[in-house]
Amino acid sequence: MKVYVLGAGSIGSLFGALLGRAGNDVTLIGRKEQVRAVNENGLHVSGFEEFTVYPEASLYAPDEPPQLLILATKSYSTKTALECARNCIGPDTWILSIQNGLGNEELALKVTPNVMGGITTNGAMLVEWGHVRWTGKGITVIGRYPSGNDPFVGKVAEVFNASGLETHVTENVNGWKWAKAIVNSVINGLGTVLEVKNGALKDDPHLEAISIEIAREGCIVAQQLGVQFEMHPLELLWDTIERTRENYNSTLQDIRRGKRTEVDYIHGKIVEYAHSIGLEAPRNELLWALIKAKENLNKPGG
Ligand SMILES: NC(=O)c1ccc[n+]([C@@H]2O[C@H](COP(=O)([O-])OP(=O)(O)OC[C@H]3O[C@@H](n4cnc5c(N)ncnc54)[C@H](OP(=O)(O)O)[C@@H]3O)[C@@H](O)[C@H]2O)c1
Repeated sequence: MKVYVLGAGSIGSLFGALLGRAGNDVTLIGRKEQVRAVNENGLHVSGFEEFTVYPEASLYAPDEPPQLLILATKSYSTKTALECARNCIGPDTWILSIQNGLGNEELALKVTPNVMGGITTNGAMLVEWGHVRWTGKGITVIGRYPSGNDPFVGKVAEVFNASGLETHVTENVNGWKWAKAIVNSVINGLGTVLEVKNGALKDDPHLEAISIEIAREGCIVAQQLGVQFEMHPLELLWDTIERTRENYNSTLQDIRRGKRTEVDYIHGKIVEYAHSIGLEAPRNELLWALIKAKENLNKPGG
């Protein structure tokens, strides 16, 4: 399959490396340091598996349309990235977002009706340019966005599975995107404000109770919007915490590096959706504001 990965950072490089190793025609679209490193020395993967692949790497999307464009930037970069890659979206190109947060697929739908949503519980970290560590082996769930099916979704799942990425197809991907956003609203929200490892949210009875309240707030908004869950967000929350109990969440890691976080697309979107139907989401609103303040305080020179 001809695949472009838009945003060759941590998770995009991992997907690109695995797809490339399986013989797919992969082009990584990324920043100049990553493009240079991959073009000079290939892309090295360590962690769960160790190998080096030699995909194409480019600063810009080539004009020739791919069959699949994997959207793997942070959510705050999606709009600009899609504008930059618009030249390569052909009538048969599908866009798949494997990002966290809400709203990315809506932006993709402005470019083409062929949009898939996805969630992945794989973990990846760019150790240095050209070297990605597969930090956690998980699953990926994909589906036509916002719901329904298409034969191409099944084909992508087949290609992913053959590449070593365990992938399942759903007809309700919007439910999965919401469930993951709710899980992130708890782990990335509370875990960042308190600067604790994920496991603490379940081990301490006070934090467990607050976690349930935050998740419940997101669930109420989702349910009022008509979103249905295949796996209840609380079940997904406890499962995620168990599997990542020794990790600090990605929002906290971004704050510590003085980087922008994705909270506008997690808590911010939950609040925005709540307001759109006349509800309040005060727990999400508070976490959102606290993390934005932390973001400002930790900015270089802040
Ligand atoms: N990492 C994980 O384990 C993991 C797991 C599940 C889901 N996710 C989700 O996947 C998404 C990506 O996360 P990540 O950790 O992979 O982020 P990341 O390491 O920051 O990777 C994103 C990369 O895309 C680049 N980029 C942004 N706009 C671009 C453009 N127009 N053209 C080319 N490159 C561009 C970024 O460069 P700049 O930094 O210079 O903007 C960065 O190198 C997020 O939504 C995250 O929540 C990540």
